[in-house]
Amino acid sequence: MTWVLEGLALVAVLVGWCLYKKKINEEEREKNSGIPRGTSGWPFIGETLDFIASGYSSRPVSFMEKRKSLYGKVFKTHLLGRPIIVSTDSDVNKVVLQNHGNIFIPYYPKSVTELLGKSSILQMNGTMQKRVHALIGGFLRSPQLKARITKDIENSVKLSLSTWKHKHPVYVQQETKNITFEVLVRVLMSIGPSGDLNFLKREYEEFIKGLICLPINFPGTRLYKSLKAKERLLKMVRRVVEERKVALEKTDDKGLANDAVDVLLRDTSESNDTQQHLPLDFISGNIIEMMIPGEDSVPMVMTLAVKFLSDSPVALKRLVEENMELKSHKAQSCDEYAWTDYMSLPFTQNVINETLRMANIINAVWRKALKDVEIKGYLIPKGWCVLASFSSVHMDEENYENPFQFDPWRWEKTGAAINSNNFTPFGGGQRLCPGLELSRLEISIFLHHLVTTYRWVAEEDDILNFPTVKMKQKLPITIMPMDK
Ligand code: HEM
Repeated sequence: MTWVLEGLALVAVLVGWCLYKKKINEEEREKNSGIPRGTSGWPFIGETLDFIASGYSSRPVSFMEKRKSLYGKVFKTHLLGRPIIVSTDSDVNKVVLQNHGNIFIPYYPKSVTELLGKSSILQMNGTMQKRVHALIGGFLRSPQLKARITKDIENSVKLSLSTWKHKHPVYVQQETKNITFEVLVRVLMSIGPSGDLNFLKREYEEFIKGLICLPINFPGTRLYKSLKAKERLLKMVRRVVEERKVALEKTDDKGLANDAVDVLLRDTSESNDTQQHLPLDFISGNIIEMMIPGEDSVPMVMTLAVKFLSDSPVALKRLVEENMELKSHKAQSCDEYAWTDYMSLPFTQNVINETLRMANIINAVWRKALKDVEIKGYLIPKGWCVLASFSSVHMDEENYENPFQFDPWRWEKTGAAINSNNFTPFGGGQRLCPGLELSRLEISIFLHHLVTTYRWVAEEDDILNFPTVKMKQKLPITIMPMDK
Protein backbone atom coordinates (compact mmCIF):
# COMPACT_ATOMS: atom_id res chain seq x y z
CA MET A 1 0.00 0.00 0.00
CA THR A 2 2.79 2.38 0.98
CA TRP A 3 4.58 1.88 -2.34
CA VAL A 4 1.37 2.89 -4.17
CA LEU A 5 1.22 6.13 -2.17
CA GLU A 6 4.90 6.77 -2.70
CA GLY A 7 4.45 6.16 -6.43
CA LEU A 8 1.52 8.60 -6.59
CA ALA A 9 3.49 11.22 -4.65
CA LEU A 10 6.39 10.82 -7.09
CA VAL A 11 4.09 11.22 -10.11
CA ALA A 12 2.55 14.35 -8.52
CA VAL A 13 6.00 15.85 -7.92
CA LEU A 14 7.06 15.04 -11.49
CA VAL A 15 3.89 16.54 -13.02
CA GLY A 16 4.30 19.64 -10.83
CA TRP A 17 7.94 19.96 -11.88
CA CYS A 18 7.11 19.59 -15.58
CA LEU A 19 4.35 22.22 -15.36
CA TYR A 20 6.69 24.53 -13.50
CA LYS A 21 9.47 24.06 -16.09
CA LYS A 22 6.99 24.57 -18.95
CA LYS A 23 5.81 27.81 -17.36
CA ILE A 24 9.38 29.05 -16.79
CA ASN A 25 10.30 28.22 -20.39
CA GLU A 26 7.20 29.96 -21.74
CA GLU A 27 7.90 33.03 -19.62
CA GLU A 28 11.53 33.05 -20.78
CA ARG A 29 10.46 32.80 -24.43
CA GLU A 30 7.86 35.54 -24.03
CA LYS A 31 10.35 37.81 -22.27
CA ASN A 32 12.47 37.84 -25.41
CA SER A 33 9.58 38.25 -27.82
CA GLY A 34 8.29 41.74 -26.97
CA ILE A 35 5.20 40.40 -25.18
CA PRO A 36 4.52 42.67 -22.17
CA ARG A 37 5.99 41.55 -18.86
CA GLY A 38 3.84 39.81 -16.27
CA THR A 39 3.13 36.39 -14.91
CA SER A 40 0.77 33.61 -15.91
CA GLY A 41 0.13 32.68 -12.27
CA TRP A 42 -0.93 29.13 -11.42
CA PRO A 43 -1.31 26.37 -13.99
CA PHE A 44 -4.81 26.39 -15.53
CA ILE A 45 -6.39 29.01 -13.26
CA GLY A 46 -3.68 31.62 -13.84
CA GLU A 47 -4.44 34.77 -11.83
CA THR A 48 -8.23 34.41 -12.04
CA LEU A 49 -8.80 34.08 -8.29
CA ASP A 50 -6.88 37.25 -7.53
CA PHE A 51 -8.78 39.04 -10.30
CA ILE A 52 -12.16 37.98 -8.90
CA ALA A 53 -11.14 38.75 -5.31
CA SER A 54 -10.24 42.32 -6.26
CA GLY A 55 -13.66 42.63 -7.96
CA TYR A 56 -15.29 41.80 -4.64
CA SER A 57 -13.12 44.23 -2.69
CA SER A 58 -13.82 47.90 -2.09
CA ARG A 59 -11.01 48.75 -4.54
CA PRO A 60 -11.63 46.73 -7.71
CA VAL A 61 -8.73 48.34 -9.58
CA SER A 62 -6.27 46.87 -7.04
CA PHE A 63 -5.56 43.87 -9.32
CA MET A 64 -4.44 46.23 -12.08
CA GLU A 65 -2.67 48.66 -9.73
CA LYS A 66 -0.49 45.94 -8.22
CA ARG A 67 0.66 44.59 -11.60
CA LYS A 68 1.03 48.04 -13.09
CA SER A 69 3.50 48.90 -10.34
CA LEU A 70 5.45 45.67 -10.99
CA TYR A 71 5.44 45.46 -14.79
CA GLY A 72 4.26 48.79 -16.21
CA LYS A 73 0.99 50.00 -17.72
CA VAL A 74 0.60 47.07 -20.10
CA PHE A 75 1.18 43.62 -18.68
CA LYS A 76 0.59 39.97 -19.31
CA THR A 77 -1.59 37.75 -17.14
CA HIS A 78 -3.73 34.62 -17.40
CA LEU A 79 -7.46 34.92 -16.73
CA LEU A 80 -10.44 32.60 -17.22
CA GLY A 81 -8.29 29.96 -18.85
CA ARG A 82 -6.53 32.22 -21.38
CA PRO A 83 -3.36 34.27 -21.67
CA ILE A 84 -4.42 37.93 -21.67
CA ILE A 85 -2.68 41.24 -22.15
CA VAL A 86 -4.11 43.91 -19.91
CA SER A 87 -3.80 47.53 -20.93
CA THR A 88 -4.21 50.31 -18.40
CA ASP A 89 -2.69 52.74 -20.90
CA SER A 90 -5.19 55.08 -22.57
CA ASP A 91 -3.15 55.33 -25.81
CA VAL A 92 -3.03 51.55 -26.18
CA ASN A 93 -6.75 51.33 -25.35
CA LYS A 94 -7.46 53.88 -28.05
CA VAL A 95 -5.71 51.79 -30.73
CA VAL A 96 -7.55 48.67 -29.57
CA LEU A 97 -10.89 50.49 -29.70
CA GLN A 98 -10.22 52.11 -33.07
CA ASN A 99 -9.55 48.66 -34.45
CA HIS A 100 -8.20 49.74 -37.81
CA GLY A 101 -8.40 46.93 -40.31
CA ASN A 102 -10.56 44.77 -38.07
CA ILE A 103 -7.62 43.37 -36.16
CA PHE A 104 -9.45 43.08 -32.86
CA ILE A 105 -12.74 41.24 -32.51
CA PRO A 106 -14.89 41.16 -29.38
CA TYR A 107 -14.08 38.35 -27.02
CA TYR A 108 -16.65 37.24 -24.45
CA PRO A 109 -16.77 34.31 -22.01
CA LYS A 110 -18.33 31.15 -23.48
CA SER A 111 -21.68 31.54 -21.66
CA VAL A 112 -22.08 34.99 -23.24
CA THR A 113 -21.29 33.79 -26.77
CA GLU A 114 -23.74 30.93 -26.33
CA LEU A 115 -26.50 33.32 -25.33
CA LEU A 116 -25.80 35.94 -27.97
CA GLY A 117 -26.69 34.95 -31.48
CA LYS A 118 -23.82 34.74 -33.98
CA SER A 119 -25.33 37.70 -35.79
CA SER A 120 -25.70 39.86 -32.67
CA ILE A 121 -24.26 43.37 -33.07
CA LEU A 122 -22.18 42.66 -29.96
CA GLN A 123 -20.38 39.79 -31.72
CA MET A 124 -20.55 40.75 -35.38
CA ASN A 125 -17.58 42.19 -37.21
CA GLY A 126 -16.88 43.89 -40.49
CA THR A 127 -19.42 45.53 -42.76
CA MET A 128 -22.52 44.12 -41.09
CA GLN A 129 -21.51 45.49 -37.67
CA LYS A 130 -20.81 48.86 -39.24
CA ARG A 131 -24.15 48.85 -41.01
CA VAL A 132 -26.25 47.97 -37.93
CA HIS A 133 -24.16 50.28 -35.72
CA ALA A 134 -24.71 53.20 -38.09
CA LEU A 135 -28.45 52.55 -38.36
CA ILE A 136 -29.05 52.23 -34.62
CA GLY A 137 -26.63 55.01 -33.71
CA GLY A 138 -28.18 57.39 -36.23
CA PHE A 139 -31.63 56.71 -34.81
CA LEU A 140 -30.71 56.89 -31.11
CA ARG A 141 -28.75 60.10 -31.56
CA SER A 142 -31.38 61.86 -33.68
CA PRO A 143 -32.86 65.04 -32.20
CA GLN A 144 -36.29 63.82 -33.33
CA LEU A 145 -36.06 60.72 -31.14
CA LYS A 146 -34.76 62.74 -28.20
CA ALA A 147 -37.58 65.28 -28.58
CA ARG A 148 -40.19 62.52 -28.67
CA ILE A 149 -38.76 60.25 -25.98
CA THR A 150 -38.28 63.10 -23.47
CA LYS A 151 -42.03 63.12 -22.70
CA ASP A 152 -42.06 59.31 -22.26
CA ILE A 153 -39.05 59.40 -19.95
CA GLU A 154 -40.62 62.22 -17.92
CA ASN A 155 -43.85 60.25 -17.59
CA SER A 156 -42.08 57.08 -16.44
CA VAL A 157 -39.90 59.01 -13.98
CA LYS A 158 -42.79 61.02 -12.53
CA LEU A 159 -45.05 57.99 -12.24
CA SER A 160 -42.34 56.07 -10.43
CA LEU A 161 -41.46 58.99 -8.11
CA SER A 162 -45.15 59.43 -7.21
CA THR A 163 -45.18 55.92 -5.74
CA TRP A 164 -42.02 56.44 -3.69
CA LYS A 165 -43.82 58.28 -0.89
CA HIS A 166 -45.69 55.08 -0.03
CA LYS A 167 -42.54 52.98 0.15
CA HIS A 168 -40.36 52.66 3.24
CA PRO A 169 -37.61 52.33 2.27
CA VAL A 170 -37.30 52.97 -1.45
CA TYR A 171 -34.84 50.62 -3.17
CA VAL A 172 -33.28 52.94 -5.73
CA GLN A 173 -31.68 50.19 -7.81
CA GLN A 174 -35.01 48.41 -8.25
CA GLU A 175 -37.03 51.56 -8.99
CA THR A 176 -34.61 52.89 -11.58
CA LYS A 177 -34.51 49.51 -13.31
CA ASN A 178 -38.29 49.64 -13.78
CA ILE A 179 -38.12 53.16 -15.22
CA THR A 180 -35.34 52.45 -17.69
CA PHE A 181 -36.64 49.08 -18.85
CA GLU A 182 -39.88 50.74 -19.89
CA VAL A 183 -37.98 53.43 -21.81
CA LEU A 184 -35.68 50.90 -23.49
CA VAL A 185 -38.55 48.71 -24.71
CA ARG A 186 -40.33 51.77 -26.04
CA VAL A 187 -37.25 52.91 -27.96
CA LEU A 188 -36.56 49.46 -29.35
CA MET A 189 -40.07 48.33 -30.26
CA SER A 190 -42.68 50.91 -29.11
CA ILE A 191 -44.24 48.68 -26.47
CA GLY A 192 -45.75 50.67 -23.60
CA PRO A 193 -47.02 49.41 -20.21
CA SER A 194 -48.98 46.24 -21.06
CA GLY A 195 -49.00 42.48 -20.75
CA ASP A 196 -46.32 42.31 -23.45
CA LEU A 197 -44.06 44.58 -21.40
CA ASN A 198 -44.50 42.40 -18.31
CA PHE A 199 -43.79 39.28 -20.35
CA LEU A 200 -40.63 40.85 -21.80
CA LYS A 201 -39.44 41.92 -18.38
CA ARG A 202 -40.00 38.51 -16.83
CA GLU A 203 -38.38 36.55 -19.64
CA TYR A 204 -35.52 39.00 -20.07
CA GLU A 205 -34.65 38.66 -16.37
CA GLU A 206 -34.55 34.87 -16.79
CA PHE A 207 -32.46 35.20 -19.96
CA ILE A 208 -29.89 37.58 -18.49
CA LYS A 209 -29.22 35.42 -15.41
CA GLY A 210 -27.22 33.06 -17.63
CA LEU A 211 -24.90 35.69 -19.01
CA ILE A 212 -22.18 34.80 -16.56
CA CYS A 213 -22.49 31.15 -15.66
CA LEU A 214 -20.87 27.78 -16.34
CA PRO A 215 -21.14 27.07 -20.07
CA ILE A 216 -22.92 23.75 -19.57
CA ASN A 217 -26.11 23.30 -21.55
CA PHE A 218 -28.51 20.54 -20.53
CA PRO A 219 -31.95 20.54 -18.85
CA GLY A 220 -31.79 22.09 -15.40
CA THR A 221 -28.60 24.11 -15.90
CA ARG A 222 -28.60 27.89 -15.73
CA LEU A 223 -27.50 28.22 -19.35
CA TYR A 224 -30.27 25.91 -20.53
CA LYS A 225 -32.95 27.92 -18.68
CA SER A 226 -31.61 31.17 -20.12
CA LEU A 227 -31.56 29.78 -23.65
CA LYS A 228 -35.18 28.65 -23.21
CA ALA A 229 -36.14 32.15 -22.03
CA LYS A 230 -34.42 33.54 -25.12
CA GLU A 231 -36.51 31.24 -27.34
CA ARG A 232 -39.70 32.60 -25.74
CA LEU A 233 -38.44 36.17 -26.11
CA LEU A 234 -37.56 35.58 -29.75
CA LYS A 235 -41.02 34.19 -30.47
CA MET A 236 -42.69 37.26 -29.03
CA VAL A 237 -40.36 39.79 -30.63
CA ARG A 238 -40.61 37.99 -33.98
CA ARG A 239 -44.43 38.38 -33.78
CA VAL A 240 -44.04 42.13 -33.15
CA VAL A 241 -41.55 42.46 -36.03
CA GLU A 242 -43.87 40.57 -38.43
CA GLU A 243 -46.87 42.72 -37.48
CA ARG A 244 -44.84 45.83 -37.99
CA LYS A 245 -43.59 44.64 -41.37
CA VAL A 246 -47.17 44.10 -42.57
CA ALA A 247 -48.20 47.53 -41.28
CA LEU A 248 -45.20 49.13 -42.96
CA GLU A 249 -46.03 47.56 -46.31
CA LYS A 250 -49.57 48.96 -46.13
CA THR A 251 -48.52 52.56 -45.58
CA ASP A 252 -46.96 55.12 -47.85
CA ASP A 253 -45.77 57.13 -44.87
CA LYS A 254 -42.04 56.54 -44.86
CA GLY A 255 -41.40 59.43 -42.46
CA LEU A 256 -39.32 59.19 -39.33
CA ALA A 257 -38.75 55.77 -37.83
CA ASN A 258 -40.63 55.17 -34.58
CA ASP A 259 -38.24 52.73 -33.02
CA ALA A 260 -35.32 50.41 -33.65
CA VAL A 261 -37.56 47.73 -35.22
CA ASP A 262 -38.73 50.34 -37.72
CA VAL A 263 -35.16 51.42 -38.47
CA LEU A 264 -34.00 47.87 -39.18
CA LEU A 265 -37.12 46.94 -41.16
CA ARG A 266 -36.85 49.94 -43.44
CA ASP A 267 -33.18 49.52 -44.21
CA THR A 268 -32.12 48.23 -47.57
CA SER A 269 -28.58 47.94 -48.73
CA GLU A 270 -27.24 47.71 -52.22
CA SER A 271 -25.75 44.28 -52.74
CA ASN A 272 -25.17 42.63 -56.12
CA ASP A 273 -27.43 45.29 -57.64
CA THR A 274 -30.37 44.09 -55.58
CA GLN A 275 -31.87 45.73 -52.56
CA GLN A 276 -31.60 43.53 -49.52
CA HIS A 277 -33.79 43.83 -46.47
CA LEU A 278 -32.43 42.55 -43.20
CA PRO A 279 -33.95 39.11 -42.42
CA LEU A 280 -36.72 39.13 -39.79
CA ASP A 281 -34.91 36.65 -37.53
CA PHE A 282 -31.83 38.83 -37.64
CA ILE A 283 -33.89 41.86 -36.61
CA SER A 284 -35.69 40.01 -33.78
CA GLY A 285 -32.43 38.60 -32.38
CA ASN A 286 -30.68 41.93 -32.48
CA ILE A 287 -33.54 43.73 -30.76
CA ILE A 288 -33.21 41.34 -27.82
CA GLU A 289 -29.41 41.53 -27.79
CA MET A 290 -29.49 45.32 -27.86
CA MET A 291 -31.27 45.18 -24.52
CA ILE A 292 -28.14 43.71 -22.93
CA PRO A 293 -25.88 46.79 -22.98
CA GLY A 294 -28.81 49.14 -22.32
CA GLU A 295 -30.81 47.40 -19.63
CA ASP A 296 -28.58 47.40 -16.57
CA SER A 297 -26.18 50.23 -17.24
CA VAL A 298 -28.47 53.25 -17.15
CA PRO A 299 -30.25 52.35 -13.87
CA MET A 300 -26.87 51.60 -12.25
CA VAL A 301 -25.55 55.05 -13.17
CA MET A 302 -28.74 56.60 -11.74
CA THR A 303 -28.38 54.53 -8.56
CA LEU A 304 -24.71 55.36 -8.10
CA ALA A 305 -25.38 59.04 -8.71
CA VAL A 306 -27.83 58.89 -5.77
CA LYS A 307 -25.23 57.03 -3.71
CA PHE A 308 -22.37 59.44 -4.47
CA LEU A 309 -24.61 62.48 -3.93
CA SER A 310 -25.82 61.09 -0.59
CA ASP A 311 -22.17 61.00 0.48
CA SER A 312 -21.42 64.49 -0.91
CA PRO A 313 -23.92 67.00 0.52
CA VAL A 314 -22.14 70.00 -1.02
CA ALA A 315 -22.43 68.58 -4.52
CA LEU A 316 -26.05 67.64 -3.87
CA LYS A 317 -26.83 71.19 -2.71
CA ARG A 318 -25.37 72.66 -5.89
CA LEU A 319 -27.31 70.13 -8.00
CA VAL A 320 -30.58 71.00 -6.25
CA GLU A 321 -29.99 74.74 -6.77
CA GLU A 322 -29.34 74.35 -10.48
CA ASN A 323 -32.35 72.12 -11.03
CA MET A 324 -34.69 74.21 -8.86
CA GLU A 325 -33.78 77.20 -10.96
CA LEU A 326 -34.84 75.38 -14.13
CA LYS A 327 -38.01 74.12 -12.45
CA SER A 328 -39.14 77.59 -11.34
CA HIS A 329 -38.23 79.04 -14.72
CA LYS A 330 -40.42 76.41 -16.38
CA ALA A 331 -43.25 77.01 -13.90
CA GLN A 332 -43.18 80.77 -14.57
CA SER A 333 -43.09 80.46 -18.34
CA CYS A 334 -45.57 77.54 -18.40
CA ASP A 335 -43.34 75.98 -21.07
CA GLU A 336 -42.85 72.28 -21.40
CA TYR A 337 -39.35 70.91 -20.92
CA ALA A 338 -37.38 70.33 -24.09
CA TRP A 339 -34.63 67.66 -24.13
CA THR A 340 -32.12 70.46 -24.58
CA ASP A 341 -33.22 72.03 -21.25
CA TYR A 342 -32.06 68.97 -19.38
CA MET A 343 -28.85 68.58 -21.33
CA SER A 344 -27.82 72.20 -20.87
CA LEU A 345 -27.59 72.10 -17.06
CA PRO A 346 -23.79 72.27 -16.68
CA PHE A 347 -23.43 71.10 -13.10
CA THR A 348 -25.86 68.22 -13.67
CA GLN A 349 -23.78 67.10 -16.64
CA ASN A 350 -20.66 67.30 -14.47
CA VAL A 351 -22.34 65.11 -11.84
CA ILE A 352 -23.14 62.58 -14.58
CA ASN A 353 -19.55 62.61 -15.89
CA GLU A 354 -18.15 62.15 -12.43
CA THR A 355 -20.57 59.30 -11.70
CA LEU A 356 -19.67 57.59 -14.98
CA ARG A 357 -15.96 58.00 -14.21
CA MET A 358 -16.17 56.50 -10.74
CA ALA A 359 -18.91 53.93 -11.33
CA ASN A 360 -17.14 52.14 -14.19
CA ILE A 361 -20.28 50.24 -15.06
CA ILE A 362 -18.47 48.73 -18.05
CA ASN A 363 -15.01 48.58 -16.55
CA ALA A 364 -13.24 47.18 -19.63
CA VAL A 365 -13.74 45.68 -23.04
CA TRP A 366 -12.33 42.32 -24.08
CA ARG A 367 -10.93 41.74 -27.54
CA LYS A 368 -9.03 39.02 -29.39
CA ALA A 369 -6.20 39.82 -31.82
CA LEU A 370 -6.60 38.28 -35.29
CA LYS A 371 -2.94 38.85 -36.08
CA ASP A 372 0.25 39.96 -34.36
CA VAL A 373 -0.02 43.65 -33.49
CA GLU A 374 2.53 45.99 -32.00
CA ILE A 375 1.28 49.01 -30.07
CA LYS A 376 3.68 51.42 -28.35
CA GLY A 377 6.37 48.74 -28.50
CA TYR A 378 4.19 46.05 -26.90
CA LEU A 379 3.54 42.92 -28.93
CA ILE A 380 0.06 41.44 -28.82
CA PRO A 381 0.41 38.02 -30.46
CA LYS A 382 -2.22 36.58 -32.81
CA GLY A 383 -4.93 34.74 -30.89
CA TRP A 384 -4.24 36.47 -27.59
CA CYS A 385 -6.89 38.44 -25.74
CA VAL A 386 -6.57 42.05 -24.76
CA LEU A 387 -8.41 43.58 -21.88
CA ALA A 388 -8.58 47.35 -22.37
CA SER A 389 -9.24 48.52 -18.82
CA PHE A 390 -11.27 51.73 -18.59
CA SER A 391 -11.51 51.70 -14.81
CA SER A 392 -7.71 51.79 -14.41
CA VAL A 393 -7.54 54.87 -16.64
CA HIS A 394 -10.47 56.52 -14.82
CA MET A 395 -8.93 55.88 -11.40
CA ASP A 396 -5.34 56.78 -12.28
CA GLU A 397 -3.98 59.79 -10.40
CA GLU A 398 -1.88 60.72 -13.42
CA ASN A 399 -5.18 61.45 -15.17
CA TYR A 400 -7.39 62.63 -12.29
CA GLU A 401 -6.31 64.35 -9.09
CA ASN A 402 -7.62 62.45 -6.02
CA PRO A 403 -9.30 59.91 -8.29
CA PHE A 404 -11.25 58.21 -5.49
CA GLN A 405 -12.97 61.45 -4.51
CA PHE A 406 -16.36 62.33 -6.01
CA ASP A 407 -15.69 65.80 -7.36
CA PRO A 408 -18.09 67.04 -10.09
CA TRP A 409 -16.24 70.39 -10.12
CA ARG A 410 -13.17 68.77 -11.68
CA TRP A 411 -15.12 68.73 -14.96
CA GLU A 412 -15.37 72.53 -14.93
CA LYS A 413 -11.62 72.60 -15.31
CA THR A 414 -11.28 69.64 -17.65
CA GLY A 415 -14.50 70.03 -19.63
CA ALA A 416 -12.70 69.41 -22.90
CA ALA A 417 -11.31 66.14 -21.57
CA ILE A 418 -14.76 64.57 -21.88
CA ASN A 419 -13.76 63.50 -25.35
CA SER A 420 -10.26 62.52 -24.44
CA ASN A 421 -8.86 59.01 -24.26
CA ASN A 422 -8.86 59.28 -20.48
CA PHE A 423 -12.66 59.20 -20.27
CA THR A 424 -14.25 56.25 -22.04
CA PRO A 425 -17.29 55.05 -20.07
CA PHE A 426 -19.05 54.46 -23.40
CA GLY A 427 -16.06 52.86 -25.12
CA GLY A 428 -14.81 54.39 -28.33
CA GLY A 429 -13.92 53.94 -31.95
CA GLN A 430 -15.88 51.58 -34.11
CA ARG A 431 -18.06 50.30 -31.28
CA LEU A 432 -18.64 53.54 -29.37
CA CYS A 433 -21.92 53.06 -27.51
CA PRO A 434 -24.79 54.17 -29.77
CA GLY A 435 -26.95 54.70 -26.65
CA LEU A 436 -24.59 57.35 -25.20
CA GLU A 437 -26.80 60.41 -25.69
CA LEU A 438 -30.03 58.64 -24.85
CA SER A 439 -28.48 57.38 -21.59
CA ARG A 440 -27.29 60.84 -20.60
CA LEU A 441 -30.74 62.28 -21.33
CA GLU A 442 -32.49 59.63 -19.23
CA ILE A 443 -30.13 60.18 -16.30
CA SER A 444 -30.51 63.98 -16.54
CA ILE A 445 -34.33 63.75 -16.51
CA PHE A 446 -34.26 61.33 -13.58
CA LEU A 447 -31.92 63.52 -11.51
CA HIS A 448 -33.90 66.67 -12.27
CA HIS A 449 -37.22 65.28 -11.07
CA LEU A 450 -35.70 63.44 -8.14
CA VAL A 451 -33.83 66.38 -6.63
CA THR A 452 -36.67 68.85 -7.23
CA THR A 453 -39.28 66.54 -5.68
CA TYR A 454 -37.65 64.86 -2.70
CA ARG A 455 -34.89 65.02 -0.15
CA TRP A 456 -33.60 61.68 1.04
CA VAL A 457 -31.43 59.87 3.54
CA ALA A 458 -29.58 56.82 2.27
CA GLU A 459 -28.93 53.77 4.42
CA GLU A 460 -25.43 52.25 4.60
CA ASP A 461 -24.80 50.19 1.51
CA ASP A 462 -21.78 48.87 -0.41
CA ILE A 463 -20.93 48.80 -4.07
CA LEU A 464 -20.17 45.31 -5.41
CA ASN A 465 -18.09 45.16 -8.56
CA PHE A 466 -18.23 41.50 -9.55
CA PRO A 467 -19.47 40.12 -11.88
CA THR A 468 -21.22 43.42 -12.63
CA VAL A 469 -21.59 46.64 -10.64
CA LYS A 470 -24.44 46.41 -8.12
CA MET A 471 -25.44 47.76 -4.72
CA LYS A 472 -25.33 45.07 -2.07
CA GLN A 473 -28.72 46.10 -0.60
CA LYS A 474 -30.17 47.75 -3.76
CA LEU A 475 -29.53 51.15 -2.10
CA PRO A 476 -32.38 51.70 0.37
CA ILE A 477 -33.30 55.34 1.00
CA THR A 478 -35.93 57.14 3.05
CA ILE A 479 -37.49 60.05 1.22
CA MET A 480 -39.13 63.28 2.35
CA PRO A 481 -41.00 65.80 0.20
CA MET A 482 -38.90 68.80 -0.78
CA ASP A 483 -40.87 71.34 1.27
CA LYS A 484 -40.53 69.56 4.64
C1 HEM B 1 -24.82 54.47 -18.99
C2 HEM B 1 -25.23 53.61 -19.87
C3 HEM B 1 -24.37 52.87 -20.85
C4 HEM B 1 -23.03 52.59 -20.80
C5 HEM B 1 -22.02 52.93 -19.68
C6 HEM B 1 -22.71 51.88 -22.02
C7 HEM B 1 -21.45 51.47 -22.37
C8 HEM B 1 -21.13 50.84 -23.56
C9 HEM B 1 -19.79 50.46 -23.95
C10 HEM B 1 -18.53 50.65 -23.12
C11 HEM B 1 -19.88 49.89 -25.18
C12 HEM B 1 -18.72 49.38 -26.04
C13 HEM B 1 -18.58 47.88 -25.96
C14 HEM B 1 -17.44 47.38 -26.81
O1 HEM B 1 -16.65 48.17 -27.32
O2 HEM B 1 -17.33 46.15 -26.94
C15 HEM B 1 -21.28 49.89 -25.55
C16 HEM B 1 -21.77 49.37 -26.73
C17 HEM B 1 -23.10 49.32 -27.05
N1 HEM B 1 -24.13 49.93 -26.36
FE1 HEM B 1 -23.97 50.94 -24.64
N2 HEM B 1 -23.85 51.73 -22.76
C18 HEM B 1 -24.89 52.33 -22.10
C19 HEM B 1 -26.20 52.44 -22.51
C20 HEM B 1 -26.71 51.91 -23.66
C21 HEM B 1 -28.09 51.99 -24.09
C22 HEM B 1 -29.21 52.70 -23.32
C23 HEM B 1 -28.19 51.31 -25.26
C24 HEM B 1 -29.38 51.04 -26.15
C25 HEM B 1 -30.46 51.74 -26.21
C26 HEM B 1 -26.86 50.82 -25.59
C27 HEM B 1 -26.56 50.08 -26.71
C28 HEM B 1 -25.29 49.67 -27.04
C29 HEM B 1 -25.02 48.84 -28.21
C30 HEM B 1 -26.03 48.33 -29.24
C31 HEM B 1 -23.63 48.63 -28.22
C32 HEM B 1 -22.83 47.80 -29.22
C33 HEM B 1 -22.28 48.69 -30.31
C34 HEM B 1 -21.42 47.94 -31.32
O3 HEM B 1 -20.79 46.94 -30.94
O4 HEM B 1 -21.38 48.38 -32.46
N3 HEM B 1 -26.00 51.21 -24.60
N4 HEM B 1 -22.02 50.48 -24.56
